Amino acid sequence: MDYLQIKRVNSLHGNIKISGAKNASLPLIAMTILANNSVSIKNLPHVADINTLLKLLSNLGAKCNRGEDITTIDTSSLSETKATYDIVRTMRASILVLGPILARFGHCEVSLPGGCAIGQRPVDLHLKALEQMGAIINIEAGYIHAIAPNGLKGCNIIFDKITVTGTANIVMAAALAEGVTTITNAAREPEVVQLCEILNANGVKIDGIGTAILTIHGTDKKLIHIDEFSVIPDRIEAGTYLCAAAITRSELTLTDVNPGHLGAVLSKLQEMGSKFTITENTITIHPSDVIKHVKIVTQEYPAFPTDMQAQFLALATQADGTSIIEERLFENRFMHVSELQRMGADISLNGNVATVNGKSKLSGTDVMATDLRASSALVIAALVADGITNVHRIYHLDRGYDSLEKKLQNVGADIKRLKE
Ligand code: EPZ
Repeated sequence: MDYLQIKRVNSLHGNIKISGAKNASLPLIAMTILANNSVSIKNLPHVADINTLLKLLSNLGAKCNRGEDITTIDTSSLSETKATYDIVRTMRASILVLGPILARFGHCEVSLPGGCAIGQRPVDLHLKALEQMGAIINIEAGYIHAIAPNGLKGCNIIFDKITVTGTANIVMAAALAEGVTTITNAAREPEVVQLCEILNANGVKIDGIGTAILTIHGTDKKLIHIDEFSVIPDRIEAGTYLCAAAITRSELTLTDVNPGHLGAVLSKLQEMGSKFTITENTITIHPSDVIKHVKIVTQEYPAFPTDMQAQFLALATQADGTSIIEERLFENRFMHVSELQRMGADISLNGNVATVNGKSKLSGTDVMATDLRASSALVIAALVADGITNVHRIYHLDRGYDSLEKKLQNVGADIKRLKE
């Protein structure tokens, strides 16, 4: 297995090009199941989760051709409708094929994703909404067996909780349903917005895009032609590098980024003392001589994103004073805390609230990644830790960060990928 060896750095400098968003790419790849043509997708990030979903579609009979800049996916030969455990267990977002396959074929089996490190992560809201649309769903031997013998029918769905992939799944199911579906309490994340925009631009009329109430006019099982499109930039990757710049008091420019997707993140960094120069598709963060303590509560978009919680917690270890970070979306998303404590951070946990007493002196040591964003938090801390930090189990990191060590090397970080 690979690990990252990271040494303390005085500061970073230069440009980092932001890749396509993993969490936009996954529903957009699933969306090709609704198409009657070979779909070209630009700017898919080169990360493990994308490869996993492309492999799943290939296993179902689709023809996927992964290029450096453009990937084509032709699902006209898709014949299988069972997403098996061996793939789904490695990537829970495989659940995103359930809605489109069920809408197109009238039957689908998907292994229950099961929990993951950060929480139990049920899919009950996805299933309840599909049942409201006419699906008959049984769970047997760890699999979701869904059939819709009379096709899916549009209806009014109200999500008890805001669910990102739940919203994406139902939008895709509704796209081929008969009649109109409204989704109330829909997720407004930019990744969901892009899915709706692409569908709307290719024959599925969707009203309320970007709001909490979506109205989808189904095509009644008529497949759609989808023109080539490019995936939006990854706002979480961008936020991660901004935290790396803030903690090392560096001047760094992010290119191919959408600052409009980072409102809450930029606002919190400004609160902590960072200053920015922002253009339409670049963000330059300037060195700050102080890192102020902060209070953060994670919530759904456009509020502060849970996917940036671990990275800000690492940054908060270097802030003057006490920071309070509350995680409201997942029940177990503080596994980076124990590893940061081993590096010398002064953090106490009380339920879903972390109290971070800064500024702590961090020392390099061997640490273990536990989940995708926790891994990036350890890398951020390692940049300012004395000595050498070895971050193990970085297969977690490779799921969602495209060439992280190369991007950091290019701006002056002393970071190497080595073999155990
Ligand atoms: C998406 O996960 C993202 N993944 C996650 O990013 C992100 O952390 C999360 O949204 C929240 O923003 C992808 O987009 C592939 P949810 P998702 O359904 O859709 C509960 C990363 O680091 N819930 O919005 O699975 C759930 O338990 C990953 O890139 C139900 O109770 O998250 C959680 O508490 C990690 N029942 C809350 O809702 C359901 O049926 C939000 O979950 C569905 C969700």
